Amino acid sequence: MMVSLCYIFLPIVVIIGLLRKCREHSWGRCKDTSDLQDRVFLVTGANSGIGKATVRELVRRRAKVIMACRDMDRARNCIAEIRKKISTGEMIPMELDLACLPSIYKFAQRVLRDFPEIHGLINNAGVYEPLKNRTLTKDGYDVHFAVNYLGHFFLTNLLLDKMKASVPSRIVVVTSKLMESGVIDFSNLNGEKGLTAKGRMNPAYCNSKLANVYFATELAKRLANTGVNVYMVCPGFTYTGLFRDVKRSWFHYIIFSPVALLFLRTAHQGAQTVLHCATDASLANESGLLYRDCKVYTSKKTLEPEVAEKLWKISATLTDLKYAK
Ligand SMILES: NC(=O)c1ccc[n+]([C@@H]2O[C@H](COP(=O)([O-])OP(=O)(O)OC[C@H]3O[C@@H](n4cnc5c(N)ncnc54)[C@H](OP(=O)(O)O)[C@@H]3O)[C@@H](O)[C@H]2O)c1
Repeated sequence: MMVSLCYIFLPIVVIIGLLRKCREHSWGRCKDTSDLQDRVFLVTGANSGIGKATVRELVRRRAKVIMACRDMDRARNCIAEIRKKISTGEMIPMELDLACLPSIYKFAQRVLRDFPEIHGLINNAGVYEPLKNRTLTKDGYDVHFAVNYLGHFFLTNLLLDKMKASVPSRIVVVTSKLMESGVIDFSNLNGEKGLTAKGRMNPAYCNSKLANVYFATELAKRLANTGVNVYMVCPGFTYTGLFRDVKRSWFHYIIFSPVALLFLRTAHQGAQTVLHCATDASLANESGLLYRDCKVYTSKKTLEPEVAEKLWKISATLTDLKYAK
């Protein structure tokens, strides 16, 4: 009996292992390993998942990294964990709650005061709430809209002059391929009229990731020829804490595990395209493009320039960003 089970399962395990290796190869990796001493990066959501893996690689290459996190204990634990293996670079934990506009303003003022230059801004932090939840921030915004999009819009604009003064500099906006299912409905930007789910994913998340793409596209246009480049990144389906609030049954895990083995990246693998866009010298003359698997990704989503402009103007009003005309 045991022997015949081995005959069935062993080939399956070997085939899945080989397919996994092929997939890993197709995900690509950041090939630039140049020294980043004297380069300053700011990573939001730096204490876990893709953000943490990004910080680890940046300090390995001797960069100075401002770790913008909402929980200082988690930030310090993350630093202690990275320091067990890597002694190079510098990690500076700083408190930032992207769900709260005054917190963003306060954080940005500290950064502007304490750091003469910022060469890389990595807008990575993100949340995903289960479909049936609708969480509003203290400012009254849907949490996806606020954290994934509006908070980063505000933060980026507050730091923009510093980024311009630090050229060559880069802004990386972490989005998701799920933005292709998103819509920008100006009559329901905050989801106040309710949202209709097409599949299992929360449409508020997809919409926020599409808003990220519109924001980055418009930002790249506004920053043309300034020396500040903008990159959009889909890190790919990655094993992190992003879906921590989504409850799944044991049955789901059994069905899902072969899919996970084939498609799910580690946080280190998920961080590769972020690192590629934040540091790779070969992209020095690129801006305004979307990347996945460490190469340009051509999305099937058609972007409308007037939507990008309108979203920018509304966001500037919502964040009281008087100078972001
Ligand atoms: N994982 C995937 O499959 C996948 C796929 C496509 C795109 N992405 C994107 O990749 C990015 C990173 O996500 P991840 O997968 O690495 O998930 P993660 O492990 O959950 O990391 C998200 C980070 O964002 C932080 N964050 C959440 N709310 C915040 C707030 N209000 N203020 C400041 N920071 C906040 C979290 O802090 P706490 O630890 O304190 O919660 C955490 O550090 C996100 O933008 C996500 O949308 C992920």
